[in-house]
Amino acid sequence: MDLHVTEEQRAIQKLVRDFARDVVAPAAKSIDQSDEFPRSIVKKMGDIGLLGLPIPEEWGGVGADYVSYMLAIEEISYVSAALGVILAVHTSVGTMPILAFGTEEQKRVFVPALAAGEKLGAFALTEPNAGSDAQGIRTRAERVGDAYVLNGQKVFITNGGEADVYTVFAVTDSARAAHGGVTAFLVERDTPGFRVGRKEEKMGLHGSSTAELIFEDVKLPAARRLGGEGDGFKIAMSQLDGGRIGIAAQALGIARAAFDAACAYTQSRTQFGRAISEFQAVQTMLADMAMKIEAARLLTYRAATLRAAHKPCGKEASMAKLYASDTAMSVTTDVVQLFGGYGYTKEYPVERYMRDAKVTQIYEGTNQIQRIVIAKALAKEMTE
Ligand code: CAA
Repeated sequence: MDLHVTEEQRAIQKLVRDFARDVVAPAAKSIDQSDEFPRSIVKKMGDIGLLGLPIPEEWGGVGADYVSYMLAIEEISYVSAALGVILAVHTSVGTMPILAFGTEEQKRVFVPALAAGEKLGAFALTEPNAGSDAQGIRTRAERVGDAYVLNGQKVFITNGGEADVYTVFAVTDSARAAHGGVTAFLVERDTPGFRVGRKEEKMGLHGSSTAELIFEDVKLPAARRLGGEGDGFKIAMSQLDGGRIGIAAQALGIARAAFDAACAYTQSRTQFGRAISEFQAVQTMLADMAMKIEAARLLTYRAATLRAAHKPCGKEASMAKLYASDTAMSVTTDVVQLFGGYGYTKEYPVERYMRDAKVTQIYEGTNQIQRIVIAKALAKEMTE
């Protein structure tokens, strides 16, 4: 497996790093404090092509590969994990499913506008009683002539309160065994009967919108069905393979930010007459952090490289997401510890990093679910 980063990928990484430093970083603290969706920065991300990075040029995107996209999420998340997830969800599960499974007409209507950032995408799978058990969704789509009528509720939808286009999963045939009855639909924000419900107040990722969606007799033409009837569960799972690489990259960005802050702080903070970085207890903590971040990076790059080559990457994506998110949590917790009392205050950004890291272990499949995905893939490999 070649983990070499090409010149083109480096160029994109630099462009995004500069944008993150100049445009996103100065606003990161106020986004966290205000918990307001950073609409103007999202617009600027669209202006420089960030919202359509891995989308082919013929569909209005930049045509970069999945590794470049992953590097971009990492760089944005390094300064703002909230903007990192807005970008990740918009792209990997908000736009890519339409590109992968859409008809020509669906792609023409939705993809260029999403890639340009004129519209924002979201992915609506989770329900109050169907989180880890994604087959348990109850939102219904009943076929009535040449249309479908959707009724139900979704929760914890990232970009939920702000998106224009939602890929929504609903049961079309409850008589068919579990996942065979799930179908995907494209729902536009202004469709009658659709509304955004409660917006969540979260521990972290302030500024990223997490909302409930309500569907009451939402009538959709059959042309808004994504893929065939009964294909929905597999569409969701296959797109989450890519999405989880994005979350791994987000976690990697958060961990790196915390680590860099720790390196700077421990060299400048003096106790007992010397910089605390000179104490072995601190050095071993930094060494462990550096090792975990490097391992998370290798797993994430590997999964992204497989995705870029259109090869199966479910197991690798789950490994990357699981390991990178655990790394983000352990590194940010240890960095708060190294900052001592200051780390527990809002004077430094490290407490934000710790709050932001937690959700990477939870969304796009909890880390317990990632282990199930990995174990299932191993079991399959053993029988092949
Ligand atoms: N690609 C394509 N097909 C897949 C697939 C994949 N990656 N994974 C599974 N499938 C197929 C299987 O082959 C199987 O098909 P057949 O019956 O034809 O063989 C079918 O889907 C059912 O698969 P399983 O039997 O494995 O399904 P399961 O119900 O036992 O479990 C699960 C699957 C892994 C637990 C799954 O439900 C899961 O991933 N749960 C977590 C849900 C999740 O990640 N939610 C995230 C919400 S989105 C989000 O968080 C975004 C955000 O806001 C940040």
